[in-house]
Amino acid sequence: MKRILTSLILSLLSINIAVAASGDAGAGKTKAATCAACHGANGIGASDTFPNLAGQHADYIVKQLKAFKSGDRKDPLMAPMAAALSEQGMVDIAAYFSNLPHDGASQDSGSAGTGTSTSSAPIAYEPNPAAGKSLYELGDASRNIGACIGCHGSEGNSEVLIYPNLTNQHPEYIAKQLHNFKNKTRDNYAMNQFAGGMTEDDIADMAAYFADPAAVADVVSRKVTASAPITAEVIAGKAKAATCAACHGADGNSPVAIYPKLAGQSADYIVKQLQEFKAGTRKDPVMAPMAAALSEQDMVEIASYFAAQKVAVADLPGSDIGKKLYFGGNVKRKITACVACHGVSGKGMNKAGFPTIAGQNEAYLKAQLMKFKEGDRNNDYNTMMQSVASKLSANDMEELAKFMASMK
Ligand code: HEC
Ligand code: HEC
Ligand code: HEC
Ligand code: HEC
Repeated sequence: MKRILTSLILSLLSINIAVAASGDAGAGKTKAATCAACHGANGIGASDTFPNLAGQHADYIVKQLKAFKSGDRKDPLMAPMAAALSEQGMVDIAAYFSNLPHDGASQDSGSAGTGTSTSSAPIAYEPNPAAGKSLYELGDASRNIGACIGCHGSEGNSEVLIYPNLTNQHPEYIAKQLHNFKNKTRDNYAMNQFAGGMTEDDIADMAAYFADPAAVADVVSRKVTASAPITAEVIAGKAKAATCAACHGADGNSPVAIYPKLAGQSADYIVKQLQEFKAGTRKDPVMAPMAAALSEQDMVEIASYFAAQKVAVADLPGSDIGKKLYFGGNVKRKITACVACHGVSGKGMNKAGFPTIAGQNEAYLKAQLMKFKEGDRNNDYNTMMQSVASKLSANDMEELAKFMASMK
């Protein structure tokens, strides 16, 4: 299943981002000779300031080389290296490095495996790999930090080819890049925001997590429980949700196209919306009085109830244009792919505050995108959605809404 999804995304991305599948790894090997001094002949950086390229996604490597060449990503060593490469040279070299074994075969860089903290700076803080892992998997919605796992994948193996693998990367390099994103010496919308929310201790914890093979290996067993369990809150919520049924349906499957379905929506997201309708930071004349009548406890219970319901999705035709935009975004127009935050299956990420959009009513989806674009809805963290929506045309919104409504 994973493989099917990966190749689906691959094929969708390759339509959009013209990274030719035609990279010639053989030719790349010759051209990569100049890179070996720093990145190693086997793609394992000669020291922890030089990132490992072995097994990195080719698309990501090409994207970075272009950024170094254009100056969008600044590095005094890489700028001249990239400037000397043609587009074909980049693609070939990327094909070469991406085909090398992830673990760098036999040569050990000596940095990742040594375990104990080796940072030269004498910091009093003892980095905690478990805390790093927890932040990696869950993010921290209260500080606007997305769950890293949503984009960089389980154990740092990202499924989306323009998102770098972090597995087998030097922990020192990971920490350095997080600092670069944090002080914005490296530019990336999503990463600037997430790293910006991280403290020095968080960054040290994250590096410690990637330095600790045992911690990384055991990620899977600590996965968060996916579906909401039936708790006392769910039961109490059911009774309290009766007033919502007229518009949102008794089981959260709203029968009216302009009213959103709440079934299967993230509980944290529902609570956030209710708090904001109540506070007036999300404006809607219908929902404001509904939310005003609810206590914090009511909100949590009602949200637990709706989150535990199953969303009903009819067989809809969807949209190929919408699908392509959803998975691939549009690099030229700087549209971030929706998949980055709303997920491969459209189920969002509860802990990161990214809502489910799969199977939502089409008319509602379209209306919300327009509201974000026009600023009528501006309750999103760090204007995340407003920034994406501002780049969408009315036609994009129409096709996206069609596609998202058909996602199961
Ligand atoms: C003199 C040393 C040096 C040489 C030679 C060199 N690089 Fe780099 N490269 C670096 C450094 C340092 C960085 C990290 C820059 C930063 O901190 O942002 C880097 C980063 C990169 C990255 C980004 C990796 C990531 O995970 O973000 C890519 C891709 C890359 N180099 C490819 C190449 C290629 C291809 C060549 C050969 C044509 C090459 N480099 C030659 C020093 C070098
Ligand atoms: C919304 C998707 C998304 C999320 C969530 C996310 N990242 Fe990223 N990350 C990216 C993208 C995209 C890049 C590449 C940026 C570029 O093209 O320069 C990146 C790059 C990085 C890099 C640099 C890797 C390299 O090889 O240069 C590090 C380190 C990193 N992220 C760590 C994290 C951590 C830690 C978290 C969680 C706190 C996180 N990311 C959450 C999308 C994401
Ligand atoms: C009279 C109809 C009506 C009733 C009753 C109603 N809602 Fe709504 N609800 C709406 C409309 C319309 C919207 C969309 C507002 C907008 O366009 O931003 C909405 C939006 C929401 C959202 C945001 C969903 C999302 O995907 O962002 C939540 C959460 C919500 N309602 C919860 C409730 C709860 C809980 C109740 C009962 C206490 C309730 N609603 C009662 C009409 C109603
Ligand atoms: C950087 C992360 C990010 C990206 C990329 C992103 N979204 Fe969102 N989206 C969010 C967040 C966060 C919210 C919830 C905002 C809030 O708290 O009210 C949201 C909300 C939405 C909603 C409203 C859902 C509801 O139930 O009211 C829609 C529709 C939506 N996004 C569609 C899209 C589409 C289409 C794309 C791609 C073109 C996209 N998003 C890209 C983060 C993102």
